[in-house]
Amino acid sequence: MERILTPSEIRERLKVLASQAAECTACRLHEGRTQAVFADGSAEADLMLIGEGPGNHEDRQGLPFVGRAGQLLDRLLGQVGLERHQVYIANVVKCRPPNNRDPRPDEIEACKHFLVDQLRLIDPKVVMTMGNFATKLLLKTSVGITRTRGQVYPWWGRVVVPTFHPAAALRSGPAMEDLIRSDLELAVQTIQEQRAADPQPEPLSDIGEALQEEVAGQLGLFE
Ligand code: URA
Repeated sequence: MERILTPSEIRERLKVLASQAAECTACRLHEGRTQAVFADGSAEADLMLIGEGPGNHEDRQGLPFVGRAGQLLDRLLGQVGLERHQVYIANVVKCRPPNNRDPRPDEIEACKHFLVDQLRLIDPKVVMTMGNFATKLLLKTSVGITRTRGQVYPWWGRVVVPTFHPAAALRSGPAMEDLIRSDLELAVQTIQEQRAADPQPEPLSDIGEALQEEVAGQLGLFE
């Protein structure tokens, strides 16, 4: 069993993973990228947010959710008392799909080991999946986000709270923003409940290879 890592060891491992992603050529998406977009935020976050994949602004700046969808996300986080530096933000795929098309199953498959490692290292109390790609991947469901959102799903002793992708709210308007805000409130409330119920759950990072395989299996929606 691996011992519990210190925050600085976690940051160090994340740095190594980010440099591996920067060099990765495992799928065709590397051909069009300016740079890989690994993550932003705190390695000690209780809330990890997962989007779909970098867009144009993210590809240029090397950070997730820095375009219009990201500005909306920052605003909604602020409305529930959170700042970007307090959460951890990543995407299902780390390189920008051309013309912002959806990531393809083989691209998700090639990239998912990075997400598995991010989940294990961050070991958040709550994972918020934003949009269909992240939600279907983690919950291993074909049910769409409209029906999955607004609820909590037990996941490896942690909790997944799905919500709409902020880009969908930009297209759809304030009613969807209200729903994302309410899902964020649910995530914050769930974190508080998790803290009160079990302040020190067994860390994902301490469960070893078996869990890695199982998590990888759970993420294997498209296998
Ligand atoms: N949309 C995403 O899914 N991720 C980003 O980083 C930006 C936009």
